[in-house]
Amino acid sequence: MITFAPDIVIAGDVREGLSRTPKMLPPKLLYDAQGSALFEQITCLPEYYPTRTEAAILTAHGDEICSRLGRNVSVSELGAGTATKTRILLRSLLQRQSRVNYFPLDVSDAALQLAKDEVERELGAVNVNPHVGDFEDLTFLAGQTPPRLVLYIGSSIGNLEQEDAISLLQNIAQQLSRGDQLLLGVDLVKNSDVMHAAYNDSAGITASFNKNLLVRINRELGGHFEPDAFCHVSFWNEVSSRIELHLESTCSQSVRVDALDTTLRFYQGERIHTENSYKYTLECLERLLQRGGFAVEQTWTDRDCWFAVSLGVIT
Ligand code: AVJ
Repeated sequence: MITFAPDIVIAGDVREGLSRTPKMLPPKLLYDAQGSALFEQITCLPEYYPTRTEAAILTAHGDEICSRLGRNVSVSELGAGTATKTRILLRSLLQRQSRVNYFPLDVSDAALQLAKDEVERELGAVNVNPHVGDFEDLTFLAGQTPPRLVLYIGSSIGNLEQEDAISLLQNIAQQLSRGDQLLLGVDLVKNSDVMHAAYNDSAGITASFNKNLLVRINRELGGHFEPDAFCHVSFWNEVSSRIELHLESTCSQSVRVDALDTTLRFYQGERIHTENSYKYTLECLERLLQRGGFAVEQTWTDRDCWFAVSLGVIT
């Protein structure tokens, strides 16, 4: 039998977020075992272009990306998930070095177990050392043997506000030394219909992914949410350059959460803001890397400029 270690503790974040006006929950809570599995399904949806577009960039330019890396790099990855796209890069990397030490970090233990199984099954020369956690403690990065490559792909940085994105990159940079590199993948601003469809898929998987947050609170905190009394709302916010995800209460209701010893009130139409997905321009992406403490070495995009992967270095 496979037993999973517990993921991150959620009580504090839930109490804090749901006592705010407007109510919010941090997006990292979307990724329990069930949420991570739903996200994997999202990545395969016809409307969800980011994953396959980034994968295409890594496939087309993997060898060139690896040719710009230091000799015998150690690889760490923030928000690795199941590391499906990472395997594309690891394959290219193994043409230049005989072994790779790989340190994936994620909030989902279940996703990391899959990552380890899949990577080790396909690539015997990669040693996988998974680490369950969020981005609060990045000291594990400094523990890797230099030269280091940090992967922060998949547009996960899109969850963060500008200032938080910059401080996260600065925190990463602080753990690194001269010559260490960061490969950052971000989703780019494009036609709003394309972006809207990606977060409002016709199969309703994104809606289930969003509502799973309530299911998780029910299970882990003794919540009494009725997930169908909330609907998935997602739209492009042009002014803020982001897709927003919300859960909207379909009626006036009270919801008890036993572990927090509290009853939450919702008015009809009230929303819980569950996620932002910021979209960048190429200029903003490169400025972000610079302000985060990295010199931009090169940026790769797909033909349509829907997604970008940028390599930065500590100078
Ligand atoms: C994992 C943060 C990159 O923003 O596109 C997908 C999460 N949310 N569909 C994204 C997500 C709804 C995804 N990231």
